[in-house]
Formats: sequence, C-alpha cells, structure tokens
Amino acid sequence: MRKKIATIVGARPQFIKCAPVSELLRKQFREVLIHTGQHYNPEMSHIFFQQLQIPEPDYNLEVGSHPHGRQTGFMLMRIEAVLLQEKPALVLVYGDTNSTLAGALAAAKLNVPVAHVEAGLRSFNRKMPEEINRIVADRLASLLFCPTRTAVKNLKAEGQLQGVYWTGDVMYDALLRHLPLAEQHSRILDRLGLSPKAYYLATVHRAENTDQPERLNEILKAFARLPLPVVFPVHPRTRRFIQTHFGERNWPNIRFIDPVSYLDVLVLQKNAAKVLTDSGGMQKEAYFLEVPCVTLREETEWPETVAAGANVLTGASAEKILAAATREVRVRCQGTDFGDGQAAARIVALIDKMLEKE
Ligand code: UD1
Repeated sequence: MRKKIATIVGARPQFIKCAPVSELLRKQFREVLIHTGQHYNPEMSHIFFQQLQIPEPDYNLEVGSHPHGRQTGFMLMRIEAVLLQEKPALVLVYGDTNSTLAGALAAAKLNVPVAHVEAGLRSFNRKMPEEINRIVADRLASLLFCPTRTAVKNLKAEGQLQGVYWTGDVMYDALLRHLPLAEQHSRILDRLGLSPKAYYLATVHRAENTDQPERLNEILKAFARLPLPVVFPVHPRTRRFIQTHFGERNWPNIRFIDPVSYLDVLVLQKNAAKVLTDSGGMQKEAYFLEVPCVTLREETEWPETVAAGANVLTGASAEKILAAATREVRVRCQGTDFGDGQAAARIVALIDKMLEKE
C-alpha cells in the first residue's frame, strides 16, 4: 500500500506551488488533496486547477471569507474531521496563508507530521497576518523546505535546526514549466490591446495597503501619474476597497481588470515595462523573467531580488513609487538562489526518506 499524504491548499498562490509537487508526489504516494475554499471565485481558484492540471480536490471545505479567527477556526474544525477520517502519514502545507496555519495546527494536534513548503521566510513584521502564519507553521513542522539560503539562515537564527532543508523554490519550477505554454497559448496582450514594454503591470492585495485608505490612495496617485498605462488585475478584496473609497472611474491612466489566470499573468509580467506589486510571488516571477519590480511594501521576504538590483522597496509613498518606476534598470537573473527548477523533486525525495524511517 502506498503511504497517504494529505496536501492542504486554499489560496491562489498555493495552487501554483502545489502543482509541480503534487504531480511528482502522486508517482510515489497516495495524495489526498484538501482545498479549504479560502479562495472560491472561479478566476481565483478553478482556472488554476485547470491550467496547471492539478487533480480535482478530494475535499472542498468551502470555508469562504470571514474575519481571520473565524475563517481559521472553520478550517481547523473541518480539516481535523478529514484528517481523522483519512489518517494520512504526513500533512503537506504551503506558504503563509490562513489555510497553511489551520492545516499545520490541525495536523500537529493529531500528532501527524507536518511538512512546510516555503519554510523560513520572514518579513520581520509581525503586523502581517502572513508572518504569524509562517512562524507558527514553521514551529509545528518536522520537515521545513526552504526556497532560499536566506530562509535556512532565518530558521537557524530562531534556533530551528532539525528537519531544515534548502530545496529551491517550487514557484521557479512552476514558471520554467509553464512559460513556454503561456507564450504559446495566452492571448492576453491581444485581448487587452497591449504592446510589449508599453505598460506597467500592477497588483495590490496586502492588508497593510488595502485596509488603509491613505496608503491605497498614495499608490493609486502614483499609478495615475506614470508615463505608461497601468494594467491592474484587481484582487476581490482590493476591488471592494477601491469601490468604497475612491471609485474606479477617477483614474484614467489605470486599467482595472478582473484577476487573470496563471498563464496570462506570466505573459503580462514578461512583457511589462515594470511590475508594481505587493505580492510575494510576483517579486520573484518578475526577477525570473528579468523584468524590474517595484515592491509597494517596506520590507520583503525575498531580499535576494533587491540585492540583485531587480527589486526596489518603496512602501506606499507616491514619490518613491514614481522615482523607482521611472528609473532605467536592467535585470539579469542568476537563478541559483532559487534553485534549478528541481525543487519539487528534492521535496518529494526528502518526504520519501523521512517516511521510510517510520
Ligand atoms: C490570502 C492570504 C495571502 C495571500 C493571498 C493571495 C491569508 C491571511 N492571506 O489573502 O497570504 O498572499 O491570499 O491572494 O491567508 N475574496 C473573494 N473571492 C475569492 C477570495 C477572496 O471575493 O475567491 C475576497 C473576500 O471578500 C475576502 C477577501 O477577498 O474577504 C480576502 O480573502 P482572504 O482569503 O481572507 O485573504 P486574501 O486577501 O486573499
């Protein structure tokens, strides 16, 4: 009998991260895929399963949107019930969302070993819900898969030495695999009437930016004054805040569009003059695609991109955003910090080794 592994995902970036791992995992193990339902709009969830060829989840817990405690609590209850029924040998969690926290906690309380993909990342800003989620997930995990050497160092500095492995970044695996497909199949540039390098691509969804109207206003003011149009696929939470506080019509230079699929976002990033974002994933994807990035935050979990001269942190200051976005920058990607596109294979091999010992 193959050993059973329960994978827990729930939010858009986790679908991307699990795709390369699940594919390899299923060659050796029985995977039970649990979708918490944190992201539920078809364009935030279903399309990713389709494009990345992720198997249908075995369970959809349909948790939906709630304040943090309630959302995490519902997940905890429902994940526990599934784990009691399925009795997996290991639970695999990804990244830093409430789904990560709930998955790790439910498993640890049942004495099921936890493996954390994207372990060791730190912003050193505990006001971010994601920072709390990742610290707790790392404390509960017995296998910690680090995407960068900085992540390994962060864990060592916290005294976490056992079970820590550098694997490289599964998002790099996913990008290498899907970029050729994206370039072949995506029609997003035609659909939006865009020419390469004649637009900025922007995304904003972090609570620190969306929940403070002054910060969102500064960011939109900067976008409005940029010399090229700003294409802005809007996360549903951000859309609600923009509609409540500012309206979408008052910003002629900004093109608000619905969230786009993975293949489309790769093509939009590759052809952008620059990427302006508060997303963690897009800071790296821009770097991999050799497109300069402006990060609308005060800190980053990916300092390698800043050290490489590919990424500038501006916070939400309109002046700083404008200065960084209009500066001439050339980006060369030395991918080595993020691995070689084989992170998923290393992860599956390490899981296999650990479970063999049991
Ligand atoms: C979550 C993660 C964040 C990750 C991000 C990627 C946490 C704490 N945050 O933030 O780490 O970078 O996902 O997108 O887990 N909504 C919809 N439709 C959806 C999903 C969300 O309308 O399909 C709206 C809801 O109004 C909801 C709001 O977005 O209240 C926030 O969603 P939530 O899942 O709480 O967190 P995200 O902001 O997406």
